Amino acid sequence: MNFVDQLIGAIDDGLRVVSATPHANRALPNTDSAPAELSDTDRAHSIGLMRVNHCGEVCAQALYSGQLLFARDAQTRDVLEHARQEEIDHLAWCESRIDALGGRTSVLNPLFYAGSFVLGATSALAGDKVSLGFLTETEKQVEAHLADHLERLPQADTQSRHIVEVMREDEIRHGQSGVAHGGVDLPSPVKWLMKGVSKVMTSATYRI
Ligand SMILES: [Fe+2]
Ligand SMILES: [Fe+2]
Repeated sequence: MNFVDQLIGAIDDGLRVVSATPHANRALPNTDSAPAELSDTDRAHSIGLMRVNHCGEVCAQALYSGQLLFARDAQTRDVLEHARQEEIDHLAWCESRIDALGGRTSVLNPLFYAGSFVLGATSALAGDKVSLGFLTETEKQVEAHLADHLERLPQADTQSRHIVEVMREDEIRHGQSGVAHGGVDLPSPVKWLMKGVSKVMTSATYRI
């Protein structure tokens, strides 16, 4: 495919992520246990947290799409493409959990998608090693964020908790594959900037 075809494909992917219902390749974790009754407060809190996680997965799709557009070697493309496929499951699981809780996804998703796409593309333009380092640092921060959500999600919301647990295991593997394929350690100011951006995303999408 030439660059224009790839760009059109990336735009098409983006429209699909922000507007269509994704299809998971793996079954939703823990669907066979009887769902617990949640209080209104717990339900609202779970919706907020799962909306944040859903937006995080929207951003993940955008980062991968931007990175894939400028990835140079085939091995880097494989690492990114494999992780992206697993993240589609995360996106679908979060969306279906929000639906089941009676909530809605964030209205800010298109905005964060666009910003993340630019970030992913920028990291890839700096070279495959930087792009893989960016993947590793992103996954490290996401993993810490999901661990925090496991502290904050209501204990009774076992369904959301299982989803977040499986996502966390996947993110750890994605981060490791970035290192294994030669990803470089990013400079501290870049890591701080990434943390700042994700802080804005998490506090905004918990509410809207
Ligand atoms: Fe994910
Ligand atoms: Fe991931």
